[in-house]
Amino acid sequence: MNWFIEIFRTSIGKKIVMAITGLGFSLFLLIHLIGNLTLYGGKELFMSYVEHLHALGPLIHVAEVGLLTFAIIHVVSGLILFWQNLQARPIRYKINKRAGGRTLGSATMPYTGVLILIFVVIHLLNFHFIDHSLQTAFQVISATFSVLPYVVFYTIAVIIVAIHVSHGFWSLFQTLGANHANYMPAIKGFGIIFSLLVAAGFGFIPVYVNFIM
Ligand code: HEM
Repeated sequence: MNWFIEIFRTSIGKKIVMAITGLGFSLFLLIHLIGNLTLYGGKELFMSYVEHLHALGPLIHVAEVGLLTFAIIHVVSGLILFWQNLQARPIRYKINKRAGGRTLGSATMPYTGVLILIFVVIHLLNFHFIDHSLQTAFQVISATFSVLPYVVFYTIAVIIVAIHVSHGFWSLFQTLGANHANYMPAIKGFGIIFSLLVAAGFGFIPVYVNFIM
């Protein structure tokens, strides 16, 4: 545990911790996206995916505890780094210029991060912290996305997630030292494709469930 506190004490340590937890979230997001894409195949396909997922039993709880731990570490380090950056504003601009200029993603990271946190809490209240014996996952999704404000809210939230990922993905590889001139364009390209897939794949689900299903 001491080694963790030592790493966490320095700015670069916090960035590394953010990069590793961010990589974990990217993996979760990809798995979550692939699972939710089954909704486009209809109710039976989606429910068969949910059954397979539940068959994992205790493994799901292990993954949930892991996700929560990652979330706490990621958010706390992010907020501390944001605060430290605010204290040292002139230095922050120099670092950003060196890193290849500001993009919508890079300039808004702390704000999109906080909005995602708020979204995830609401999302878990909608879909997770409910009595699962009363309705199936499909019924919950159907009922939620039959409400137009939820369709708008989820679509906007997912676009915000995509903006966060568009910068976070390549930035995490840069922090972990994979910023070699040969690989960086490919990593950047992959990050952009991934964030577009997140925006389109997740973002169209509420619209599809409300208007087409
Ligand atoms: C339209 C888009 C989305 C749909 C339809 C959707 C659907 C779901 C469903 C059905 C669950 C399972 C609830 C349960 O059985 O306990 C879930 C859990 C979750 N979702 Fe989403 N989700 C969407 C987007 C997102 C996004 C963009 C994120 C992250 C930024 C996210 C993060 C989570 C988390 C953290 C959980 C809890 C995982 C767990 O309990 O193991 N979701 N979602």
